[in-house]
Amino acid sequence: MTILKVQNVSKVFGGLHAVDNVSFEVKPNEILSVIGPNGAGKTTLFNLITRIYDLSSGNIYFQNQDISKVEAYKLASMGISRTFQNIELFEGLTTLENIMVGGYIHGKCGFVESMFGFRNRSEDKRLEKMAKEKINLIGLQNYEHSEALEIPYGRQRMVEVARALMTSPKVLLLDEPAAGLNSVESEELKKLLLRIRGDGVAIILIEHDMETVMSVSDRIVVMNHGQKLAEGTPSEIQQNQEVIKAYLGEEVF
Ligand SMILES: Nc1ncnc2c1ncn2[C@@H]1O[C@H](COP(=O)(O)OP(=O)(O)OP(=O)(O)O)[C@@H](O)[C@H]1O
Ligand SMILES: [Mg+2]
Repeated sequence: MTILKVQNVSKVFGGLHAVDNVSFEVKPNEILSVIGPNGAGKTTLFNLITRIYDLSSGNIYFQNQDISKVEAYKLASMGISRTFQNIELFEGLTTLENIMVGGYIHGKCGFVESMFGFRNRSEDKRLEKMAKEKINLIGLQNYEHSEALEIPYGRQRMVEVARALMTSPKVLLLDEPAAGLNSVESEELKKLLLRIRGDGVAIILIEHDMETVMSVSDRIVVMNHGQKLAEGTPSEIQQNQEVIKAYLGEEVF
């Protein structure tokens, strides 16, 4: 069974083939990691899947439906959610509020209306309850009422994951969630990813931290110069000569 299918997808910027004819499938309940050197095209691939960029060619299917031309704002309610490589939290909002923002997509009252005070109290209550569940799931209780941009960096990354979960996604795309985490936080992240997968969510994970990638991934897609270089289980990838060559000089595994 497949939940997301990326078929012969390309993105050309000027003359640069940032993503070059890439295909792979994601199964429900699996953690698929996308790895590769800097500039390999990983984030661009996420930007294509989440419709931030139009495809130059190819197709993307979610639950057998072609989403190649669906408007980006519709994806969250369909079941696709993501975090960004650079932290994107709202200044002046607490951890709880930042997480609640992620849920307004489903709400009857939009976030902008809420910001201007036209609040729908029952909707607020529902979202607050849901956000608190995410806070408990992720272990952010100590930071619930702190301004999100004031809390430790590693925790801010987790606020983003919590916010992405507010739309109850079926596919969650995480762009380098372990970046800047210390070893304790990385361990917590690994457990969290496995728990999210256990709840029936497929995860596509872009990550440079190979320890995290190798220990949580069911399968790995390796990108290099925009192309898919290899695909396989963690042990297959670790032994793949092409992959080792692409990472030459770096102690990645
Ligand atoms: N909007 C854009 N316009 C022009 N070129 C772009 C754009 N976005 C990305 N690129 C280029 O596409 C290539 C792939 O970039 P991308 O950000 O997808 O790499 P990445 O694999 O995510 O790298 P990193 O590991 O450093 O995050 C790079 O050469 C980058 O400069
Ligand atoms: Mg990137």
